[in-house]
Amino acid sequence: MALYIGLISGTSVDAIDAVLCDISSSSPNTIQLLNMLNFPFPKVLREELLLFGKLQYQGDGIDQLGQLDRQVGQCFAQAVEQLLTSSSHQADNIVAIGSHGQTVRHRPQLSHPFTLQIGDPNIIAAETGITTVADFRRKDMAYGGQGAPFAPAFHREFFTSTDEPRAVVNLGGIANITLLKPNQNTMGFDTGPANTLMDQWIQQHQGLSYDHNGQWAMSGDVIPQLLEELLKAPYFQTVAPKSTGCEYFNLDWLNGFLNFRYRAQDVQRTLLELTATTVANDIQRYMTSGSIYLCGGGAHNQAVLTRLQQLLAPISVETTDSLGVHPDWVEALAFAWFAHKTMRRESVDLSTITGAQRNTTLGGIYYP
Ligand SMILES: Nc1ncnc2c1ncn2[C@@H]1O[C@H](COP(=O)(O)OP(=O)(O)O)[C@@H](O)[C@H]1O
Ligand SMILES: [Mg+2]
Repeated sequence: MALYIGLISGTSVDAIDAVLCDISSSSPNTIQLLNMLNFPFPKVLREELLLFGKLQYQGDGIDQLGQLDRQVGQCFAQAVEQLLTSSSHQADNIVAIGSHGQTVRHRPQLSHPFTLQIGDPNIIAAETGITTVADFRRKDMAYGGQGAPFAPAFHREFFTSTDEPRAVVNLGGIANITLLKPNQNTMGFDTGPANTLMDQWIQQHQGLSYDHNGQWAMSGDVIPQLLEELLKAPYFQTVAPKSTGCEYFNLDWLNGFLNFRYRAQDVQRTLLELTATTVANDIQRYMTSGSIYLCGGGAHNQAVLTRLQQLLAPISVETTDSLGVHPDWVEALAFAWFAHKTMRRESVDLSTITGAQRNTTLGGIYYP
């Protein structure tokens, strides 16, 4: 067994998720979660990141990128320090950190496609004294992959059943699903928005960062014609491999469909329905029986869980807690595991997920 740390901040820019885990090199690997930490970004840094991520950002982009890269790297290093303080382990005991970083732009569709995660791994390695594996997504893109999603490769390793088809749904800012069928290639792709539109809409209308348990959404009614129009968006018609981000699903996109007479809570209810419907449609396209497991922050949203249960019945819908992994830590564990693979020079097969043309080791290694 060997100790690794996994770090990620997703498109919600809510916090850094940090885990310390013990990974075996048996086949398939086993993983044991030892310590975990949710490290919120300082308020000013979060606001700067959200502003910088906007397509209309109007500052000195290069200066801002460089400074944010460093500050996010420092936050990731602080998260590691706190995680180790809360555990009985020292930096010397850790083989490596796997750091996803913070995505500031994801553009798989351009003629010169790119994806950009910040949080300088040089800073993380220097400040923690721990070897850091980072810059995972660009490696996949270099081999023709979408650069996302990566979590399905982790789900395949740890959540596959030989008895039943399973789907794992990661409800972050964006939703990605993984289809795990016995003896078949794993599929995984982004279905579209999970929380990002709901988060942005409630922020604009209620000043809240998210809609706790979908309560505000459930005080409204679905607007059928709005839902129908949103579902016609080209992204939902595209077939996998595919990935997306907040560059596509944002309030500017939504505003293009809105009628000023709509009540704000009805729009929120429709956005919740959009998330549930797109996830359920994509699962039903490939699965007619088995079990569904939710993870990511959206797994706590009781209203989303209930709607998925209703739309997907009789297929059962639970969270990854039922598989022994708390839904909040799945993605950070995934990046600890990717670091483990890279440190062992083992490649990861993302060909049926991101569309990468060959298996490769992921990320680059930064020594302290
Ligand atoms: N109890 C809850 N009810 C509704 N939404 C929740 C709840 N807990 C977390 N969330 C949602 O989860 C999001 C964070 O999920 P996370 O998996 O960290 O996303 P990301 O990977 O994009 O950072 C929050 O922005 C919020 O929308
Ligand atoms: Mg998060």
